[in-house]
Amino acid sequence: MNVSVELGERSYDVVLGDGARHQLAELIRQRAPRARVAVIVTTPSIALQPWFEVTSGIEQHVLTVPDGEAAKALDVLEVLLEEVAQFELSRFDVLVGIGGGALTDLVGFAAATYLRGVSLVQMPTSLVGQVDAAIGGKTGVNLRSGKNLVGAFHQPIGVLCDLATIATLPERERLAGLGEVAKCWLLEGGFAAELADVSLHDLIVMSVQLKAAVVSADEQEGGRRALLNYGHTLAHALEKLALARDSDELRHGEAVAIGLAFAVRVAEALGRVDHSEVLRHDDVLEFFGLQRRIPEHFPTSSLLEAMAHDKKAHHDLTFVLAGAEGFETVHDVDPQLVSDVLERFQGEP
Ligand SMILES: NC(=O)c1ccc[n+]([C@@H]2O[C@H](COP(=O)([O-])OP(=O)(O)OC[C@H]3O[C@@H](n4cnc5c(N)ncnc54)[C@H](O)[C@@H]3O)[C@@H](O)[C@H]2O)c1
Ligand SMILES: [Zn+2]
Repeated sequence: MNVSVELGERSYDVVLGDGARHQLAELIRQRAPRARVAVIVTTPSIALQPWFEVTSGIEQHVLTVPDGEAAKALDVLEVLLEEVAQFELSRFDVLVGIGGGALTDLVGFAAATYLRGVSLVQMPTSLVGQVDAAIGGKTGVNLRSGKNLVGAFHQPIGVLCDLATIATLPERERLAGLGEVAKCWLLEGGFAAELADVSLHDLIVMSVQLKAAVVSADEQEGGRRALLNYGHTLAHALEKLALARDSDELRHGEAVAIGLAFAVRVAEALGRVDHSEVLRHDDVLEFFGLQRRIPEHFPTSSLLEAMAHDKKAHHDLTFVLAGAEGFETVHDVDPQLVSDVLERFQGEP
């Protein structure tokens, strides 16, 4: 099935289904008819997957970059761009990213910057990539000073989400992806009891539809797109502190799950929702097998400090919160209240 991201002339489809990867040649033929060369960028471990094969229908070259978050670095970008330059691409040619969210972020940024922008096809193979990272045109790399500090908006000409690739995803990565899926399910008002009849395929479709609708309404995160940051205020703070100790301690989606449980407790403390909303959140997270406990040794004061300095906050405490009018971004939440909720939350069984 296709879900479209509506952005005027730059609109594109997210193709979802088993075997979507086989639509690359057709997509390039339709959306980049003047392309002569396709440079496919992936990682060594993705290239070894049983489902890995690419037919672009035009001259093609496969390049690899380091796996995982290590791909999102300026030195990796430089090496990649030098390699791309060897193929003498024109502005009509295509870069194709095949891999997790880290890979598609890097390749998207390479496509945004090479010749000030070449065509891009994203083929996300992780759950996070399919439901989130590869859709919406946010691309970028990390600095030592922080994640995603350098980037650009660059929309792809198409996103091919092949659900068959998810089968080889390690369990922990799948679980991390479910953190973002749970976020979408909660934003959509879903209950845990309804999840019994819903397949992973349906959940991916639901999440992609939500992201596509939000991006269509608000490409650059002025308003509605910010709702996708639900659970992310605490999540970013947890990730920042975790990164300083052990980069493997918390996957992004795991941090988001904890952040969702926390945000609803902030909403309850502010009198915006009653306790049934907290239970709805906890039940959904539990259904997905997601932990909502903050790992040991995260001091409240450090978390508060990190939340106030989130790049998406404007030096205050900003949360996406549930309320009578649905979800909305709330600025300047009282630090004492947040601190009290955090203390109680950390003490929960
Ligand atoms: N641009 C955005 O809007 C956006 C949104 C959310 C996340 N992100 C970014 O995405 C990144 C996280 O993405 P991620 O969770 O996919 O992590 P990742 O890209 O690091 O991938 C996780 C691991 O899974 C492997 N993998 C991917 N697909 C596989 C498959 N089908 N089979 C076997 N192994 C597979 C990868 O090679 C990697 O080792 C972060 O850098 C985050 O900042 C970007
Ligand atoms: Zn996220």
